[in-house]
Amino acid sequence: MDGKYQYLTLIVGTVVTTYSVLRCLGYSRRSCLLPERKECIADLIGNTPMMKIRSLSKLTGCEIYAKLEMANPGGSAKDRTALAIIREYEDEGKLVPGRGDVVFEGTSGSTGISFAMLCNALGYTAHICVQSDTSAEKIALLESYGADVEKVKPASIVDPEQYVNAARAGAEALSADTTQANGVFADQFENDVNWRIHYETTGPEIYEQMNHDLDYFITGSGTGGTIAGIARYLKEQNPNISIILADPQGSGMFNRVRHGVMYDTVEKEGTRRRHQVDTIVEGIGLNRVTHNFLEGEDCIDDSQRVTDEQALKMARFLSSNDGLFVGASSSINAVAAARTALKARKGSKIVIIGCDSGARHLSKFWKEALKVDRHVSLEEILGNDKLIDNIIH
Ligand SMILES: Cc1ncc(COP(=O)(O)O)c(C=O)c1O
Repeated sequence: MDGKYQYLTLIVGTVVTTYSVLRCLGYSRRSCLLPERKECIADLIGNTPMMKIRSLSKLTGCEIYAKLEMANPGGSAKDRTALAIIREYEDEGKLVPGRGDVVFEGTSGSTGISFAMLCNALGYTAHICVQSDTSAEKIALLESYGADVEKVKPASIVDPEQYVNAARAGAEALSADTTQANGVFADQFENDVNWRIHYETTGPEIYEQMNHDLDYFITGSGTGGTIAGIARYLKEQNPNISIILADPQGSGMFNRVRHGVMYDTVEKEGTRRRHQVDTIVEGIGLNRVTHNFLEGEDCIDDSQRVTDEQALKMARFLSSNDGLFVGASSSINAVAAARTALKARKGSKIVIIGCDSGARHLSKFWKEALKVDRHVSLEEILGNDKLIDNIIH
């Protein structure tokens, strides 16, 4: 009896002591599950969640996951790129906090928002050149952050007033005047830092979150930084992972991947409505090859073209069935994922990027998506696709 009592006292004593020591060290059961305290908004970037898209997984017999880059503090994967570019310029001494230095960027919006957020936090000004038809929410957000916003008409890259060229010219003009602070051109399309940050962070995160077990990675290409960095990392880990580029209508990337030629039928004289890429989708699709895309092109196995109509329907479907409220580029990725899953071995694991929230696209993309019946089916999304016979009911 004595022995038993002593044994019990020893156990209780050990538990109480361990608990007290852990409390002193700042641990508790809850705090073990909580993310660490951070010093600044830049420290919140990365380590984004991975979420199963249950509706599409159930209907296709595969496991489809979204890496929610929209959970970054600036609302997209572009936070990673913007921070990496700022750090690079700081290391080179071209950006010094508090000196009045200005970061210039030409962007479809997301990168501008990331720069606007980070410039405020790190002691710089953001000067953002956007196309005048960029969604109103993104422009309002940029203005709310206090960025200098320059709206330019949609134009071809050969036009000096095109948004990327306008940003470069702005940085050059400010830097030429040595009496003023420095201006740097972020140059996300050609800047090598862009794909590298996805190679160093987003790729490894995906691989770890999937327990080193995935069969397909699918996303679109704007600058090409996301797909190039992640594709290169994943291929190095396992060459059997298939990398698929999801491309919107009007973009030449699909043909570039499939046939080695950057071409879209809207290139035919007189058929193109919009200057850059003829789609409602913002952020992805291009008719030129960028340095960032080239850095990963040899790792891309295939491409899927997705129409605006399919993207609108898929956005409605994901919102209604999964509570996942996404913007256009994420929706394009989800259509390509569903198609891929219907052809793939059952049980295959597919990861897409959840690029940004639908809240960024209320006045343009979601205004149209709202016209879609909220009970839209996967068959209706994929249309005449022969694959619809494989949908599981
Ligand atoms: C919403 C959105 N999705 C996807 C992308 C494509 O990312 P990347 O430029 O790395 O190809 C962008 C690029 O700006 C974007 O804004």
